[in-house]
Amino acid sequence: MSDEAGGAQRTIAVAPQPTGFGASITGLDLAKPLPAPVLGEVKAAWARHGVVAFPGQPLSLDALEAFTLQMGPFGKDPFIKPMAGRPNVLELRREADEKATNFGAGWHSDWSFQDQPPAATILRSEVIPPVGGDTLFCDCTRAYEALSPTLQAMLAPLQAIHSAARPYGAQGSFAKETAQRTMQIITSIEAEKTRTHPLVRTHPVTGKKALFISPVYTVGVEGLTGAESDAILGYLFKHMVQDRFICRHRWQAGMVLMWDNRRTMHLAEGGYDGHLRLMHRTTVAGDTPV
Ligand SMILES: [Fe+2]
Repeated sequence: MSDEAGGAQRTIAVAPQPTGFGASITGLDLAKPLPAPVLGEVKAAWARHGVVAFPGQPLSLDALEAFTLQMGPFGKDPFIKPMAGRPNVLELRREADEKATNFGAGWHSDWSFQDQPPAATILRSEVIPPVGGDTLFCDCTRAYEALSPTLQAMLAPLQAIHSAARPYGAQGSFAKETAQRTMQIITSIEAEKTRTHPLVRTHPVTGKKALFISPVYTVGVEGLTGAESDAILGYLFKHMVQDRFICRHRWQAGMVLMWDNRRTMHLAEGGYDGHLRLMHRTTVAGDTPV
């Protein structure tokens, strides 16, 4: 693992997925402050690959927070009660006997309804079930690039409408569920607010364009009728979730995963009823999408 030699500069090892979307990073210790050149390499790999996994990093919660702050300030997490004494850490816990739908089961980009949605989400696994529980990622850059120039031009001026209403609204899916859930979700009419963002956003680091919409949080397109929005968004959602744009992440215990919400959407798979799954999550603040 170590490539130290007489105090020589460390260099991380980045192993891209064969598809070019997603990568695994080794050769560093996230539990300690990263030297500036290493942090720079991590940030560059994250921007380039979209989803980066760090196997064998069983961080304490203090270390998870410290690593997050090296990436940037914490994002704001609404609608879910954070851990006691750790306002910036969410515990994603699903007990073995829990029957409620697993958290994050629909395609989304985290908190895209915020004025400034989080740039990164960081997840650290603690207890991984023996079956199920994968996280799937969609490369929204590649999905955009695969569209015809004609459709790209049609989408360029559009503003998509985002809202947390479907999951977190007073009539949302979490408000209606009856099965017991360990995570404490706060539903409200506050969640029904809407916010527009460019339907196609430009990545602030790479300059690449990506579709910035998701079935969970995008509720329409500004200036279009409901039927028109449904037709366009419906087509795009179907287009985006083709296998060729998807990367499947299989978890191990003690792994850190960091993804870029500005160019990906993700979905948490279930399939582990009867087994505890326990993770901890932070977010890194982002910019206003342009
Ligand atoms: Fe999520």
